[in-house]
Amino acid sequence: MASVRLLCLLNGKAAGCSRTLARTGCRNVCSSPSRLQSMSAWVIDQYGSSGVLRHTEEITIPTINFAHDVMIKVSAASLNPLDVNMRGGYGAALLNIRRDPLSVLNSFSEFPLILGRDLSGVVVDCGSGVTHFAPGDEVWAAIPPWKQGSLAEYVTLTEYEVSYKPKSLSHIEAASIPYVANTAFSALVNTGGLCRENSLNKRVLITGASGGVGTFSIQLLKAWGAHVTVTCSQNAEGLVRGLGADEVVDYTSGDMAEQLEMMQRFDVILDNVGGDTEEWAMGLLKPWSGAKYVTLVSPLLLKTDSMGLLDGTLNAGLTLHNKAFQNITSSGVFYRWAFYAPDGPTLDEVSRLVDTGKILPVVEAQFPFTQVPQAFQKLEGGHARGKTVVKVAEDDECIETAESEQGVQVTSQQN
Ligand SMILES: NC(=O)c1ccc[n+]([C@@H]2O[C@H](COP(=O)([O-])OP(=O)(O)OC[C@H]3O[C@@H](n4cnc5c(N)ncnc54)[C@H](OP(=O)(O)O)[C@@H]3O)[C@@H](O)[C@H]2O)c1
Repeated sequence: MASVRLLCLLNGKAAGCSRTLARTGCRNVCSSPSRLQSMSAWVIDQYGSSGVLRHTEEITIPTINFAHDVMIKVSAASLNPLDVNMRGGYGAALLNIRRDPLSVLNSFSEFPLILGRDLSGVVVDCGSGVTHFAPGDEVWAAIPPWKQGSLAEYVTLTEYEVSYKPKSLSHIEAASIPYVANTAFSALVNTGGLCRENSLNKRVLITGASGGVGTFSIQLLKAWGAHVTVTCSQNAEGLVRGLGADEVVDYTSGDMAEQLEMMQRFDVILDNVGGDTEEWAMGLLKPWSGAKYVTLVSPLLLKTDSMGLLDGTLNAGLTLHNKAFQNITSSGVFYRWAFYAPDGPTLDEVSRLVDTGKILPVVEAQFPFTQVPQAFQKLEGGHARGKTVVKVAEDDECIETAESEQGVQVTSQQN
């Protein structure tokens, strides 16, 4: 049993700070003057391994700068493979252009950088042009990779990136969903051409289905009536079947490709694994019928990091073009790359699916805010079964910490 101890998250100065927020118009996020300027966050000051993560109370609070900004007090965040990769510098070349388009001309630095792409929390302030949200609203969001992340007390986003949190979920549960939901919609809907209206009985193969994106995608496709085949380890079969997967193929069995080849061909393949998957997967698609292979594991950012923006983008574009051309001309199947795309209105739709019980959160591990490095270690260990969540805030500012609570929980409990 995990040892349990009480830790106060904040130091004496902060602990005395009132957290009561006015529901209308108040720009102060805290009544204590000492807390107006800074907040608690996990940051990195350079790229590297887990040692670069640093906790600080001295990060400037991201206040409202634009009319459509929404400032959110973060209750929970979750981690994704992207956070581990970004900690190591992945995508920096491209993301820094978005962070500061003039970065080549000045001394811009992305540090201190806050990781974490998911949040569930409460609106504390809104810009003058915000029409959909008001202070006090419970919201969830996925954060664009060039913006400061959710391993912090506060995040400011535009209202278009934010959505009302599902009422049926706790903040911990809700924080497990936005990034994988926006990614799955980007891959399956925007790139794969599937939607609620056309998915009935479509045959979809998901590789790497036991992780964050896969466990969400299975549920989304089943809610839309698709037939879902997945690949995963043998010990994840119970989880993916419980989420609705129709056929499960153990990729460690040694004859995965043979098993899949014996099945009826697929309309869409969502590849969460990459590597050599495309070499055997393209042949599993229905030929000359608009079938699509969509991979989330593309070399674009690796190439812009290693070759520079221009050469990397051109090289990646050429690779994509050649593969797409070869596949469409040889067997009439589409070859596509997909990318995570934060989008509030998509989360509105996901929220309805969650509140009607069609999609459940899959939380494998929870960590308190004091144990963010341990949460990263969990992620780096691989073999995810759903999501790893970090509890950022407690109502009373003190949290009961345990070494991580682990074990997959698929729940739809009420708050
Ligand atoms: N392009 C984008 O914008 C974008 C967005 C989101 C995610 N991604 C990428 O998409 C991938 C999936 O993301 P995620 O969040 O779902 O990752 P995740 O939570 O780490 O899940 C990956 C899952 O794949 C399983 N797995 C590993 N090797 C496998 C194989 N050969 N065959 C079948 N299953 C395998 C793992 O479990 P076992 O090892 O125990 O089998 C794990 O359950 C990651 O590479 C991520 O970087 C890209």
